Amino acid sequence: MSEAVPLIEVNQLKKYYGEPSNIFKRNPEVVQAVDGVSFTIKKGETFGLVGESGSGKSTIGRTLLRLTSITSGEVLYKGQNLHTLSKKEMRSLRPKLQFIFQDPYSSLNPRIRIGDAIAEALLDHGLASKNEVREKVLEVLEICGLAPYHYDRFPHEFSGGQRQRIGIGRAIVLNPDFIVADEPVSALDVSIQAQIINLFSELQQEKDITMLFISHDLSVVEHLCSTIGVLYLGTMMELASRDRLYGNPLHPYTKALLSAVPIPDPTLKRERIIIKGDIPNPANPPKGCKFHTRCPFAQEVCRKQIPEFREVEAGHFVACHFVE
Ligand SMILES: Nc1ncnc2c1ncn2[C@@H]1O[C@H](COP(=O)(O)OP(=O)(O)O)[C@@H](O)[C@H]1O
Ligand code: SF4
Ligand SMILES: [Mg+2]
Repeated sequence: MSEAVPLIEVNQLKKYYGEPSNIFKRNPEVVQAVDGVSFTIKKGETFGLVGESGSGKSTIGRTLLRLTSITSGEVLYKGQNLHTLSKKEMRSLRPKLQFIFQDPYSSLNPRIRIGDAIAEALLDHGLASKNEVREKVLEVLEICGLAPYHYDRFPHEFSGGQRQRIGIGRAIVLNPDFIVADEPVSALDVSIQAQIINLFSELQQEKDITMLFISHDLSVVEHLCSTIGVLYLGTMMELASRDRLYGNPLHPYTKALLSAVPIPDPTLKRERIIIKGDIPNPANPPKGCKFHTRCPFAQEVCRKQIPEFREVEAGHFVACHFVE
């Protein structure tokens, strides 16, 4: 069973790319990829992070594992500030903090058999002896829906879905506390997506894994995530439990995203809200509410004042001037 203890706490996280290294540099283009985001992930919970391409999802995922530095704010893992730990302290935490990529193929060496690739991680971190390692890898292959004979196959011999199973295997073999899965099904066909989502949900039940699950697709996170954050241009617009977010979305951006998701029950209808135009350039984001250039409900105040990210009911946060 999950305890209601935050495993990950993110406070006012900012990540700007391309900041000038000296103040005399002219017109530096600073991309405000993540602009003051806060949330927590409880132990055993899968937190879904959704938003359009370019909204800062991958940057958040990478900063949560300290794969990228931060501009300001903090990321606490079990109360420890990850970005101020020494390299040595960080190295000892590495096996506990794992990343699953959208395209696992790019992180697999084409000349290494996949059993050995999974074993490598265990041996590198001293988590198994040479004698035990094969057995552990075979166990993980089975959990991930692969067969023992796959141990000796090379990456090019696998389909996209199987490669994602390998990517998941490489992460879970280390018995991590926390996994960031960055669009792990986005590159797969819909039928294969469903199989991989099922694998994630089996792992949730069996291993009590805590995860940040990133997707641009609200229908993907609905199956797996108990809490969901909706990101727009590096800013969290709404954060709520799955039931609240899907049942009673409050932010116009969330409403618009959800109105585009088909509902299986034809008797239920959602009002379709169309968002105009493209996501603005994060190097020059709109003033006030960052969504005002595309929001169908924008008023004068939205252009001037940044809406506060407020808790409007227990655990339900919204950044909009017009949500009571
Ligand atoms: N290494 C980088 N250097 C400069 N800009 C970057 C870098 N990585 C991402 N960005 C920019 O930061 C913004 C957020 O990117 P990203 O976190 O990849 O968003 P998402 O995963 O939601 O598509 C985008 O505008 C992107 O171009
Ligand atoms: S603050 Fe204004 S522009 Fe922003 S979401 Fe609310 S109504 Fe739309
Ligand atoms: Mg991304």
